[in-house]
Amino acid sequence: MKFFVDTADVEAIAELNDLGMVDGVTTNPSLIMKSGRDIKEVTREICAMVAGPVSAETVALDADGMIAEGRELAKIADNITIKVPLTWAGLKACKVLSDEGRMVNVTLCFSANQALLAAKAGATFISPFIGRLDDLNLDGMELIEEIRTIYDNYDFRTEILAASIRSVNHMKEAALIGADVATAPPAVIKAMAGHVLTDKGLDAFLKDWEKTGQKIL
Ligand code: E4P
Repeated sequence: MKFFVDTADVEAIAELNDLGMVDGVTTNPSLIMKSGRDIKEVTREICAMVAGPVSAETVALDADGMIAEGRELAKIADNITIKVPLTWAGLKACKVLSDEGRMVNVTLCFSANQALLAAKAGATFISPFIGRLDDLNLDGMELIEEIRTIYDNYDFRTEILAASIRSVNHMKEAALIGADVATAPPAVIKAMAGHVLTDKGLDAFLKDWEKTGQKIL
């Protein structure tokens, strides 16, 4: 499973990128707002650092507006993925932009039927939002499973980008189901390294090591 980082925080991306943990980045208008940076400036910086796809989201509501904004955002760098919402207008924009050979991430997907339409419209990535479904007491992971089955049934090449990931369990379950990509906040990716038994075991080893009175260096 590829790891995308869901943030516009350049320093956080750099830390994970140095460890080889970053296959791409996703941003959205809320994350740009949180960064306090200019969208083009911060996206250019991210694109220069990360070799993989970097999603930048359009904000127009009509297809022509999304297409114009998408083409403008694509000028930032070759690895820009244009993010459009899963509306009828977004699907139209997806078809035009993907026919132009651009990478398109169709976002705000909450149903398998929406994902089916995005694949038909040539999306490079479909972004089903797990956490926001869970927030409503629905099963976000079930949606990932449904989309995996549908895409595999018909050999769609659209990649499933599990989004709105809130926990390390989301990461594990997305990987078990076979999501192509998961995009997660830096804190969730870092939390994957943690385990209470690792901490406990390390503590015991260090206490015993102290008793030996030895040094390695
Ligand atoms: C995905 O591309 C979105 O930016 C993101 O995953 C949304 O996550 P949230 O529901 O935690 O805001």
